[in-house]
Amino acid sequence: MSTASLQSLLKGFTLHEDTLISIKTCFKRALQQGLTSEGQAVKALPTFITELPNGQEIGDYLVVDLGGSNLRVGCVQLEGSHKFSLDIHKWSLTETIKDSNNQVLFDFIAYKVGEYLKMTENSVMKQIYSESCQVTLGFTFSYPVKQLNISHGELIQWNKAIKCQDAIGKDVVELLEEALARIGLGHIKVGVLLNDTVATLAAHTYVDPDTKLGVILGTGTNAAYVEQTSRIGKLGIKREGIMLVNTEWGAFGDDCPSLLPRTPMDEDVDAQSPNPGKQIFEKMISGMYLGEIARLALQKALPCSALDKLLTFDTQHLSEVASQNFGSLDNLFSEGDQAVVECLCAAVVKRAAALCSASIGAVYELIGAPKARTVVAFDGSLYEHYPRISELIKSNLDKLCPGNSLVLQLAKNESIVGAAAALAAQPGQLRK
Ligand code: GLC
Repeated sequence: MSTASLQSLLKGFTLHEDTLISIKTCFKRALQQGLTSEGQAVKALPTFITELPNGQEIGDYLVVDLGGSNLRVGCVQLEGSHKFSLDIHKWSLTETIKDSNNQVLFDFIAYKVGEYLKMTENSVMKQIYSESCQVTLGFTFSYPVKQLNISHGELIQWNKAIKCQDAIGKDVVELLEEALARIGLGHIKVGVLLNDTVATLAAHTYVDPDTKLGVILGTGTNAAYVEQTSRIGKLGIKREGIMLVNTEWGAFGDDCPSLLPRTPMDEDVDAQSPNPGKQIFEKMISGMYLGEIARLALQKALPCSALDKLLTFDTQHLSEVASQNFGSLDNLFSEGDQAVVECLCAAVVKRAAALCSASIGAVYELIGAPKARTVVAFDGSLYEHYPRISELIKSNLDKLCPGNSLVLQLAKNESIVGAAAALAAQPGQLRK
């Protein structure tokens, strides 16, 4: 490939400051519209979580976390003094389960809850299984739901790769409780249902009370933040205090894709996805898509190269390339090709980080650009494994919101811890 064509591919992934500023402004407007009325691209879903943990809550909590790639079940022990420990088991969601129907999916979840309770060494959890005493669990559910309270939620749509269409419009809490009852665990009820971003925010508040945003950068991407209830116009209620809002920012641009500077590779990835035309912003940022965007770009840059020998090229490869450890790609490319791979892969992730900064900057400004330390808690495989991604995001934020008080922190596993922390923070729960 000529240097000129490589430069033009790279240019497609480069976002200038003006473009980023305008994305930040458009996103802020889209989020405001979501807070005001239903049916907007950025859904800004009220979560009805109005109480946050103070870090002193204690107790052992049963938790379930349905993500984009895995199911996790386990026990979170809140130890007070802002500390917690975990006993978590994880299972991959197979293609068969992702392509099935609601009963297969929720029976799988219920069965794994039973399996965990049977095998755990934790005495509180064992008791739940043997004594059939009524308990509540915390359910982290990484998909958009319409909630009218904290323990129910109607599924709006699946994103990422789950396709169990018959669950749409149903209450996912009922689906889980019915599946639990089918295997004799009807005494386990869902006490709190929350998005993974909301859970990350709640869990990190337990650790650091200055937390105001929870962001997921994993298979998908999304954020939740602490809003004033009175500003959530579509709720139609006048109430003081705060409520966490699940932005569902991945759908930004769905009503007007031209708001985002997409390349032909982005358009191809969208067209081949299970949900074409949806989650346009997410498809430019998150782990499920970045590897494929990079692969399509590399195919143009390096036709007939070692790339054709690879069965998969995913986001994990992007992290390996960036850490100068070609891992499973080692020795595949000539020195010259390797340099092309490095710069194209880096450009794809750099753009993702920049877009993520634009939406974080917009939320920060929407909450009044507070001067006080404002912690953003991040969970998800891309944030955890991509080298120095936090520096990329922070440097963009410093340009977009000069003098900001944002502090970015890794909140590893906190999307599951938050299910316990949110449950513990509800009135009537055990507190120290
Ligand atoms: C998708 C889901 C959203 C979730 C995010 C990260 O965007 O719609 O609810 O928070 O993935 O897992």
